[in-house]
Amino acid sequence: MSKDVDEVTGIETTGHVWDDDLRELNKPLPKWWLYTWIATIIWGIGYMIAYPAWPMVNDYTKGLLGYSQRAAVTQQIEDGKKAQSKMWSGLETTPLNAVAANPDLLRFATASGRTVFGENCAPCHGRGAQGFKGYPNLNDDDWIWGGSFESIQKTIRHGIRSDHEETRNNAMPRFGIDEALDKKQISDVSEYVLSLSGLSKDAAASGRGKTVFAEQCVSCHGEDGKGNQELGAPNLADSVWLFGSEKADVVQSVHTGRGGKMPAWEGRLDPLTIKALTVYVHSLGGGQ
Ligand code: HEC
Ligand code: HEC
Repeated sequence: MSKDVDEVTGIETTGHVWDDDLRELNKPLPKWWLYTWIATIIWGIGYMIAYPAWPMVNDYTKGLLGYSQRAAVTQQIEDGKKAQSKMWSGLETTPLNAVAANPDLLRFATASGRTVFGENCAPCHGRGAQGFKGYPNLNDDDWIWGGSFESIQKTIRHGIRSDHEETRNNAMPRFGIDEALDKKQISDVSEYVLSLSGLSKDAAASGRGKTVFAEQCVSCHGEDGKGNQELGAPNLADSVWLFGSEKADVVQSVHTGRGGKMPAWEGRLDPLTIKALTVYVHSLGGGQ
C-alpha cells in the first residue's frame, strides 16, 4: 500500500478507498490523550494489585497493602474513645472551679454539657437556655439560687421543690389563696413591688403597699426587695422577672406563691455528666 496524500486537505490517507474515490484520512488520536489513557490503565492495574478490588465467590482479593475501610473506621472510633476517656478522667480529677483554666478540658466539658442540656433541660429552659415564663433564663447574671459552680451544681443535683431529700426548698406563702392578705392589700403590695423597678403608676397605692411589704415580705425578699439566694427568693428590684412584670403577673405571684419546680438530676445523670453540665451552665455568661 503506497503512501497516499489527500489533495484537498493535504492529509495522509489510510489507503482505504470506497466507491472508487471515497478515501479515509489518517488522523491519529492526540499524543496527550493516548498517554493519559495508557497512564490510567497502568494506575488501574497498580490499584488492583495494591487495594482490595476483585470479588470472588466467598471472598475478595485483599490487595498487597492490606487496607480495609472497616478496620480504618474501627481504628478511628478506638482513637476517639481513648481521647474521650482521657478527657472524662481529666474532668473527674479537676476541681469544678479549675476546669476553666484548662482550655481543652473547658471545651470538652462545655460541648458535652451542651449536648446533655439539649436533651434534658431544653424542654423547660429553652435550647439556648433563654428561659420562658416560670423557667429562668440561665444566660443572665440574675440568679434565684446562686450562680457559683457549687450553687449551680447543687441546683442540678437536688432540684428545686423536687422529691429529692436535699432539694432546694422554700415556699412563698399563698397570700391570696390562704387569705393572709385581702385583695386590696395584694394590689397595694404589688404596686409597691413594681415601684422597686420604676414600673408603678400609682404612688398612693405603692405607699400603702410599702407597709405590707415591710410586714410580710422582707423576711425572704429583704428590706430593699433585692432577694435572698439562700431562700431562693428572687430580686424584686431589678428588671428581670420570672413570672412577668405586668401588674396582673405580680398580683398572681402574691396570690398563689407560684412554687416553681425543677426535678433533681442526681441518680438520673451520673456525677461527671452533672459536672460537665455545671461547667456548661456556668459558661453561659452569668456564672459567678
Ligand atoms: C421540668 C422543667 C425543668 C427541667 C427539665 C429543668 N429545669 Fe432547671 N429550673 C426549672 C424551674 C421551674 C426553675 C426555677 C425554680 C424556682 O422558681 O426557683 C429552674 C431553675 C434552674 C436553675 C437555677 C437558676 C437560678 O437562677 O438560680 C438552674 C441552674 C437550672 N434550673 C438548671 C437546669 C439544668 C442544668 C437542667 C437539665 C439537667 C434543668 N434545669 C432542667 C425547671 C426545669
Ligand atoms: C417565705 C419566703 C417568702 C415570702 C415571705 C415572700 N416571698 Fe415572694 N417569693 C419567694 C420565693 C421563694 C419566690 C420564687 C417562687 C418560685 O420561683 O416559684 C418568690 C417570688 C415572688 C415574686 C415573683 C418574682 C418574679 O420574678 O416573677 C413576687 C412578685 C414576689 N415573690 C412578691 C412577694 C411579696 C409581695 C411578698 C409579701 C407579700 C412575698 N413575695 C413574700 C419567697 C417569699
